[in-house]
Amino acid sequence: MMKTLLTGAALLALTATASAQTVGFSQIGSESGWRAAETTLTRQQAEERGYTLQFSDAQQRQENQIAAIRSFIAQDVDAILLAPVVATGWDSVLQEAKEAEIPVVLLDRQVDSSDDLYLTAVGSDLVHEGRVAGEWLVGDVGDADCRIVELQGTTGSSPAIDRANGFREAIEGHANLEIVRSQTGDFTRSGGKQVMESFLQAEGGGAEICALYAHNDDMAIGAIQAIKEAGLRPGEDIRVVSIDAVPDIFQAMAAGEANATVELTPNMAGPAFDALEAFWADGTMPEKFIQTDSRLYTQADDPAGEYEARKDLGY
Ligand code: AHR
Repeated sequence: MMKTLLTGAALLALTATASAQTVGFSQIGSESGWRAAETTLTRQQAEERGYTLQFSDAQQRQENQIAAIRSFIAQDVDAILLAPVVATGWDSVLQEAKEAEIPVVLLDRQVDSSDDLYLTAVGSDLVHEGRVAGEWLVGDVGDADCRIVELQGTTGSSPAIDRANGFREAIEGHANLEIVRSQTGDFTRSGGKQVMESFLQAEGGGAEICALYAHNDDMAIGAIQAIKEAGLRPGEDIRVVSIDAVPDIFQAMAAGEANATVELTPNMAGPAFDALEAFWADGTMPEKFIQTDSRLYTQADDPAGEYEARKDLGY
């Protein structure tokens, strides 16, 4: 097992053999199709590179993630990947990893700890994603009045915070657009359906709702079901815009039941492992944030073709 020594700002890697590495991965859970794909791709990437991956599913609980990281430290792994369920509460365990000289790479979500407690973070610009969703809606609605309902992600998670802020930035100054209801659906399909049902009930059956903004596609798909069961047409009576670009949302878009999604690549492990390999080889320090691309897809972007292209990718 390779051991890396940290001496002040200088990092000395004792061996450059990346292929025998053991990497611990503390995954949040399997709340969404996107997360399932991230797990699949991480396993594939580790296998292709000859690493041993110690995988831990935290079932959405931070305390399980903290216990997993402590177990990885006890095993003296060569690196730790952490997809943090919430943004706060990581200082102590990240400090422990640092003292054990084990590099930690954050995947897809951010923490509010000092960035000297981890090697790098791989992820998208989460505020930008929310802004792109909001800008699409502003353009699509034009001058019409639009009452918006919002399904937020897991409370306290960085995507829930940032995607909410980015969307609000985009609609700010457009007095015809108003968020009238906002609640967490915990990034799950069942949560999205259940909360959308309560929104529809509270909004007189939904006739006055012009748009749904969901912080991920899975919640949007659950909400689409609720909208249909309420006798309305998702994608027409109620616009649906969300984030992730999973295959199922493209199927919904092809059927005219969803309008737009912002892509989040599930391949966070590729850039993470590239950064780790450079670090293991000669102590090369990566940028503190390795940003992945985000792009908007609408019904004009061949959703049926996008579904076909993605359906076997592990979502
Ligand atoms: O952190 C990324 C988010 O977490 C994805 O958008 C969502 O689907 C997942 O659960």
